[in-house]
Amino acid sequence: MKKIILLALFSGALFCAKAQNKIDPNTIKDKMQWFADAKLGIFIHTGIYSVNGIGESWSFHNKLISHPDYMKQVKGFTLKNYDPAYWADLVQESGARYSVITTKHHDGVAMYDTKMNNLSSVKATPAKRDMVKPFFEELRKRNIKTGAYFSLIDWTNKDYPGFLKDSSRYKIANDYGRWNKFRSFFQGQIKEISEKFNPDLWWFDGDWEHSAEEWESQKVRQIMLARNPNTIINGRLQGYGDYDTPEQNFPVKRPTFKWWELCMTINDNWGYQPQDQNWKTPYEVITIFVDAVSNGGNLLLDIGPKEDGSIPEQEVHILKELGAWNKRNGEGIFNTVAGIDLGHFYGPTTLSKDSTTLYLFVYGKATGPLLLKGLDNKIESITTVGTGVALTHKVVGKISWSPVPGLVYIDLPESALDQYVTVLKVKLDKPIKLYTGQGGLQ
Ligand code: GLC
Repeated sequence: MKKIILLALFSGALFCAKAQNKIDPNTIKDKMQWFADAKLGIFIHTGIYSVNGIGESWSFHNKLISHPDYMKQVKGFTLKNYDPAYWADLVQESGARYSVITTKHHDGVAMYDTKMNNLSSVKATPAKRDMVKPFFEELRKRNIKTGAYFSLIDWTNKDYPGFLKDSSRYKIANDYGRWNKFRSFFQGQIKEISEKFNPDLWWFDGDWEHSAEEWESQKVRQIMLARNPNTIINGRLQGYGDYDTPEQNFPVKRPTFKWWELCMTINDNWGYQPQDQNWKTPYEVITIFVDAVSNGGNLLLDIGPKEDGSIPEQEVHILKELGAWNKRNGEGIFNTVAGIDLGHFYGPTTLSKDSTTLYLFVYGKATGPLLLKGLDNKIESITTVGTGVALTHKVVGKISWSPVPGLVYIDLPESALDQYVTVLKVKLDKPIKLYTGQGGLQ
């Protein structure tokens, strides 16, 4: 009996592991290269929720506002100051290499010209325009990759089972015909977006409400890949995505996922909410960004424009500061790979792809001497990336007969510091070699 239970548990665990990871990373490695190099993306939540400045979709789902009142916002969505070229300029100025925009959130209001129903910025709002099309065109002119956020959940659609937090319309098992109707609808929208916009990346959301079988995740993946075999799909398709998307919470330990992207708001909300003044400072955003990159991930930083299409000035300020920092220090970020273990340097690090250059990131106003441990290389030079100052160092405690490398103390004068995060470039004689033993004669 015990054996049977153990076997059942074991096969259950195997099943779960399989269910979470249906895509073999080796089969998609080539198409993931631009994503791995991109490091920074700008996420944009646009929708009718910016009219009242309330929570995107969740506000009616959680009954903070009635659904009819929520939907009245369509009448106030004007986009009268929408300037897609300016948006794309701002994305470019931030240093981001891709941008993901909401084509449809859980409220079901499409921000593009869908033919599948009348609930779109084109047909239902005074804006009378497609938001996505001109934005993607402007991004492409600047060689920035395009991402389409698409909510699988569609709480306004009459054929979608879920609606308010404590009520649903029907159970799939009791009305498969109705569920099938919804499936053709949402899959039709995915086909439209594929054909119209051919996104470089798909950012699904809301997969948690149904299983892979119910969404037909495998088929959905095929729809997108048939149009563009190189399109990248985020990990919210019940096991059929290419990369993971930790949300808001920064992983404390280096994630084991092969590719991942931290999505994070710039204040405390995804969409525009005027009462939310809890802006992250440029320093906070930059340190979060550096932490993600040093651990092998990307940052997808979100902004929430207003209903008229203008972008709050605080968001503009943060993106510009981030961009200026990237201009000064980007060498240590873009086209690098995850850095070395924290035991060697008590801070974030990255490595050049050939691993002959180590970049050290120093937060705040800390000045030297900084300490590097277990580096079994000769150092050719150390300079600051942003300010180009040559730094001196000293090797301490190297015993001639021992294989254990000495400690490297690096002088970092205050005059060489960056305003936010200082990046040190350590040029090595050959690819990095690290000593991880326990000292003594090992
Ligand atoms: C969550 C929310 C949604 C938001 C998304 C962005 O899943 O449902 O409102 O758009 O995160 O990551």
